[in-house]
Amino acid sequence: MNALRLQQPSNVPGIPAHSGQLVSRFIDVEEIEEAMRWAASLPAVRLDSVSESDLELIADGAFSPLTGFMTRDDYESVVHTMRLADGTVWSLPITLPIGEQEAASFREGMWITLCNQKGVAVGVMYLVSRFRPDKQVENREVYQTTDCAHPGVAQLWKRGAVYLGGPVWVWRRSEPLFPRYTRDPVATRSLFAQRGWKRIVGFQTRNPVHRAHEYIQKVALESVDGLLLHPLVGQTKEDDIPADVRMHSYEVLLERYYPKNRVVLNVFPAAMRYAGPREAVFHALVRKNYGCTHFIVGRDHAGVGDYYGTYAAQEIFSNFSPEELGITLMFFENAFYCRVCGGMATAKTCPHSDRERLLLSGTKVRTMLRAGQAPPPEFSRPEVVQVLIEGLRVRENQQDVQMVGGCV
Ligand code: ADX
Repeated sequence: MNALRLQQPSNVPGIPAHSGQLVSRFIDVEEIEEAMRWAASLPAVRLDSVSESDLELIADGAFSPLTGFMTRDDYESVVHTMRLADGTVWSLPITLPIGEQEAASFREGMWITLCNQKGVAVGVMYLVSRFRPDKQVENREVYQTTDCAHPGVAQLWKRGAVYLGGPVWVWRRSEPLFPRYTRDPVATRSLFAQRGWKRIVGFQTRNPVHRAHEYIQKVALESVDGLLLHPLVGQTKEDDIPADVRMHSYEVLLERYYPKNRVVLNVFPAAMRYAGPREAVFHALVRKNYGCTHFIVGRDHAGVGDYYGTYAAQEIFSNFSPEELGITLMFFENAFYCRVCGGMATAKTCPHSDRERLLLSGTKVRTMLRAGQAPPPEFSRPEVVQVLIEGLRVRENQQDVQMVGGCV
């Protein structure tokens, strides 16, 4: 068997996917049984949580034009030039790292079975490339730091030393964590078309939606047809608010403060990299694949600590032409509540001094919430705060129970 027949999504509505057609790497249903039998005889690799979500996003076209995990040529090119080997803009490596010992049994030209974290075979890969990356260089170029305190850098070192690259064929989707809010790019595009939306702005977040987020979303929404609220729900760092708690907070917020016919809440099941500017480019391109025509980039997008300049994630887009990006960026300055203006604003619209502005860091807010303290309503809607405090309390109680259980 040298290639499996793929499902071809027909009449996919909306703007062109990145670099042309929306990719599908799900195999034709008629081939699944035979493929699974064949896969059982192949050497297997177990994916970690990042590569498991990457595989899903490659297969469903969210990562179009990628058809698999990156080969050495694409990887090197992306790390050094933010482009795939063929010149297409792509800013983050999408790789399949495995341990050195395990890698010793794999040769280029082999087929391998890909298993999810539970050990269930979900697809196969044709091994084009097996290579040892220079992670120091990857960290320096992608994260702009080699500091192990950076969660993306730490994560990279934890993963295997050898990368496997090649096209994939997939027959099984991951169990959706939030089935009601899980739509792949074909489904979001179809939904936008059904609603008659032509101009759709995408909003990435790994946080609860605070007033500043709400402000920039609504300012953006004033000039487009619809908003895709697209929270990332894959792996995040330990102290970020867990996705289930956030999802509940989005529901409450949308119910109370957003017009139903202008917003779609849908999850983005990717892992967070905290790569700041590079991740902003990646986030924008992927949202184009989901059918967004516009994408919001605010302050320190996908940033962490002080690793990136406040607006570096906006400046990076000047490396590319509008045509090669194919999605319109909507940049926003730091938004805040101003007591004198009596509303949300940015330095572009508010003439008052910092003393009049409510400025709270994400870390400060998370600490307050975990301590059961409510941030002021000018920072976060009280309904959202209530859900967050309650959700975090339940979560911490559950963790206590688990720890006690583990000790017995
Ligand atoms: S991110 O890691 O997903 O970027 P976050 O969920 O906080 O983090 O941010 C989501 C989006 O809102 C990003 O585009 C970010 O730049 C923007 N953003 C967050 N806070 C502000 C703010 N106070 N002012 C303007 N933009 C903001």
